[in-house]
Amino acid sequence: MNEKKTLFSAIQPSGTITLGNYIGAIKNWIDLQDKFDCIFALADLHTITVRQDPKAFRKNTIEAYALLLACGINIKDSIFFIQSHVPAHSQLSWVLSCYTQFGELSRMTQFKDKSQKHSDNITCGLFSYPVLMASDILLYQADVVPVGADQKQHLELTRNVAERFNSIYTPTFKIPEPYIHKNGAKIMSLQEPLKKMSKSDSNPNSYISILDKPDDIIKKFKRAITDSESSVRFGEGKDGINNLMTIYSCMTNKSFDEIENEFSGLGYGEFKLSVAQAVIDKLTPIQTKFTELLSNKDYLEKCYKESAEKATYIANKTLNKVMKKIGFIN
Ligand code: TRP
Repeated sequence: MNEKKTLFSAIQPSGTITLGNYIGAIKNWIDLQDKFDCIFALADLHTITVRQDPKAFRKNTIEAYALLLACGINIKDSIFFIQSHVPAHSQLSWVLSCYTQFGELSRMTQFKDKSQKHSDNITCGLFSYPVLMASDILLYQADVVPVGADQKQHLELTRNVAERFNSIYTPTFKIPEPYIHKNGAKIMSLQEPLKKMSKSDSNPNSYISILDKPDDIIKKFKRAITDSESSVRFGEGKDGINNLMTIYSCMTNKSFDEIENEFSGLGYGEFKLSVAQAVIDKLTPIQTKFTELLSNKDYLEKCYKESAEKATYIANKTLNKVMKKIGFIN
């Protein structure tokens, strides 16, 4: 008997994974494994919308796989595969692109942003990226998809395409719901706390990588931007401190009230060191596990191969239904 709903999510294996990714997405994935049947993917097909160096791409993918396992994806209960290992994603993506309007894709704000930033390389892949994402989700008949603000519009498109297909033919796809976290925190840059923490930031002091060494973590928090007030409390105009409090709260599960009490009368210097230590305590066991996993390539291969087989089985069921309904000869 299986009463659990299915959750699908994916992340791109594009280099550094930051503390912001960990708190904003990965940590939640780990926690959601109890509540849902989880299917997670490394969205490597999405990653080539930006040109990749083959060697670095391979390295990033395997490292991201190991790192997510180290963070706590439980391969016994969850499926965790590499998107390109399941051909159904590319196949359904072509099909669904014929059920998606040019105008709909033109309205995607992420496409508009990215094509402005890389005006010398606006590929069809960048344009149709949301169709591939819709295929990821719909192949698994996912009930829920945890999404951050930047992916909400893509999920909305997924729902529209699924509803369109269902109404042209007969119900084929489950319509997925966004899953919004109660404590889904957005972590900001340590240097410009009004900007999201991002690995593509040119200033490495602005973000913490999950693989940063303790000394670097301490150094980066010491340099974090605060304000001139010198009191640890959550408030307007205190974006730097608010961000540090959010990080500390996510690492220790303490409430803002508790944090304010803990540091009342103490300066920012002491607070910053405590935040750094809490982050180090959380990341050290993950880093140890990561190193151990990376030195065991056979085990990693076993994990992603078995997961790809399980994913392929589910995905092909949906794909076959779709092909049949459209009228392809089977
Ligand atoms: N596009 C997402 C990102 O860049 C990653 C992604 C690919 C995804 N397919 C997905 C997320 C399906 C949720 C569901 O962050």
